[in-house]
Formats: sequence, C-alpha cells, structure tokens
Amino acid sequence: MYFEIEPKSKKEDFFSYAYEYGEVKNALQRKEKLIVVVGVRRVGKTSLLNIVYNESKNLKLWLDGRIVTDPKKELFAAIYETVKIGKPKIFGKIESLNISAFGVGFDIKLGNESHIELEKKIKAAGQICVFIDEAQRMNIKDLADVLSYFYDRFPQVSFIISGSEIGLVEQIIGQSDAEHPLYGREITKITLNRLDRNGSMEYLKTGFEQLDLKIEKIELEKAIEELDGLIGWLTLYGYERGIKQSKDALKKTSESAARIAASELVHFFKNVKNKELYVAILKNATVVGWDELRTRAGKEMGEQLNPNLFNFALEKLATYSFIEKKDEKYQLSDPLLQKAIFLV
Ligand SMILES: Nc1ncnc2c1ncn2[C@@H]1O[C@H](COP(=O)(O)OP(=O)(O)OP(=O)(O)O)[C@@H](O)[C@H]1O
Ligand SMILES: [Mg+2]
Repeated sequence: MYFEIEPKSKKEDFFSYAYEYGEVKNALQRKEKLIVVVGVRRVGKTSLLNIVYNESKNLKLWLDGRIVTDPKKELFAAIYETVKIGKPKIFGKIESLNISAFGVGFDIKLGNESHIELEKKIKAAGQICVFIDEAQRMNIKDLADVLSYFYDRFPQVSFIISGSEIGLVEQIIGQSDAEHPLYGREITKITLNRLDRNGSMEYLKTGFEQLDLKIEKIELEKAIEELDGLIGWLTLYGYERGIKQSKDALKKTSESAARIAASELVHFFKNVKNKELYVAILKNATVVGWDELRTRAGKEMGEQLNPNLFNFALEKLATYSFIEKKDEKYQLSDPLLQKAIFLV
C-alpha cells in the first residue's frame, strides 16, 4: 500500500523510481564499493535503501548516521560485530518524517583481539553490505577517512550511503578535491528527484485506488499544486485523506508538513549567526537569479546586503538542501518551507 507513512520496505509498496532502484541493485551486483544515494528531504531515500537492504542476501548492516558519534571507532566496531554474529544487524532505527535521533552513540566492545586479527575475520566474511542513512550527520572528515580505509583494505565491503543534506554528502565523497581521502576512488552516485505533475497524479490516483476510493481530479490537482512532487508529503496527504479520512486533509497535511520542515530549520538555525538573513533569503527564493535574490532579501532586511555575506548564507542553505539551484535560479527545495519559515 502506498499511503502508509513508514519508510517503504517492500518493492510493491514503492512507487516508480525503477531506474534509480535498478542503478543501486546493479551497482551492488557489480560489487561496487561506494554507492551514494542523494536527494532532498522526503524524496524517498530511506525507503529505497530499506528495500534494497531487505532484498540483499549478503551479510549486511544498517547504521543511522545520527547515532554515530565517532565513525572511526564505531563503524569498524559495527561491521566487526555483524561479522561476529553472522547475521544482519540494524544499529539505530529506520526512521522517516522525523529527526528525533541525535548523536547518542553506541557502545560495542571489541574484546582483546589485535586489530590484525579483527581485520582477518572481516576479510574472511565474504561480501558485506553496509547501509548508512543520514551519513552526513557523522563527522564528515572522519567518515571519509573510514570509507577510504575500507575501500583500500576490504574490497568485499560495499557501502550504500544516503543523506538529505546534499552538499554535505558531496563533501563526504569529495570528488573534485585531490587532497580528499576518497579522491580517485570509483563512486556510483544516484540522485532521487521529485515526481513531476503526471507522476504525482498517478501516484495519488493509484494510492487511492488501493483503498477503493475515488477522489475528484480537481482535489488531487490542488494537493499536487500545494505539496509539489515530494512523495513524502503526497503520502502524508494520502494517509490523512484515505486512511484517517480526515476532513480538511490537505490543510492538515500542509500544517504538519510545515511543522516537520520548521523543526529541521530550527535545528539548522542553531548553528548560524544571522538567522534573519537566512529567513530573508528563504522567503524570497521563488525561482529567482542571484542578483534578484540578493536585492529582494536586502529589501526584506532594510539594508543592502554585502555580496560575500549573502553568498555565504545562500551557499549554506544550498549545502543543507533547503535551497536548490536549477538553471542559475534559486528555489526552495520544499514548497512547505514557505510556511515553515513563519513557525520558527
Ligand atoms: N517510491 C515511493 N513510493 C511510495 N511511498 C514512498 C516512496 N518513497 C517514499 N515514500 C514515502 O514517503 C515518505 C518519505 O520517505 P522516506 O523516509 O523514504 O524519504 P527520505 O528521502 O528518506 O526522507 P528524509 O529526507 O526525511 O529522511 C514516507 O512516508 C514513505 O513511505
Ligand atoms: Mg530518510
């Protein structure tokens, strides 16, 4: 069923994205060592990884980047632990639509064996698939070091990595920087994009058909207009409208979606100095070019914005995937951010 709000775990509940799914599966089949799935929030990354995880017959583990405090220790320990028990293991939860887990870390004792002995055991275990969701929440530099260590020493270990903050995920794989620990390594990158209008319509129609409901096309069009092609919000709408049978389903969906988006903004704002500047940029990022966005955000703040300062903030918003740049124009990565701004 499409309108359950948990991340999908079965192929039959996973709409479309056959190409991206095939790319991940093929890369694993080829025993690629680094497979990276990127996309803005709510586009279905966790679901895609979850399905591939469930289908994989290899020894495998799932790690949520938000619970790892020290990748250098914990990643190795988690892989070793999985080898030791010889069964798939999930560290953390497979989460969706919330950001509850933050840096709690986990504790695995490696025992008294030497590092060389531990390495030998990992090497002897055959192919291992390590799934890491929200990888960018770890210390990026440490994670890149760990990945390059595994890449060079354990050819049979594949990492399948995902994350919503695209700019940060790109820093993990750092392809254009010769000084980067992963420079020159083979990396398969797969991007999930939102659905277009037709795809969104087909998704909603089929989802309601699964519930034996027929909803007027005009109502579906209104939902698509407001929620755009983000499958996470369309799913939430389908859940409200079809499963909970709420009155005002669209209003409720966009309110709770805006609250979720707002909580992510609040988290982001904790680490910036000039919150007003970021808010002004977000409010005005309505498919506009750099100059116009600077002028508009400046007006909003009642001052002319220093180009460097403005650019720094804009780039940061893009790095954290609140803003997307397409054909030299800037826009919000999620239409609900427009509402979320007023809640922070
Ligand atoms: N292809 C799909 N078919 C059906 N439902 C989907 C699909 N992709 C995602 N969903 C639904 O959309 C919501 C968000 O999915 P998911 O958590 O996988 O996205 P995400 O990209 O990992 O989001 P986040 O960036 O918040 O972690 C969930 O309710 C999930 O069930
Ligand atoms: Mg996710």
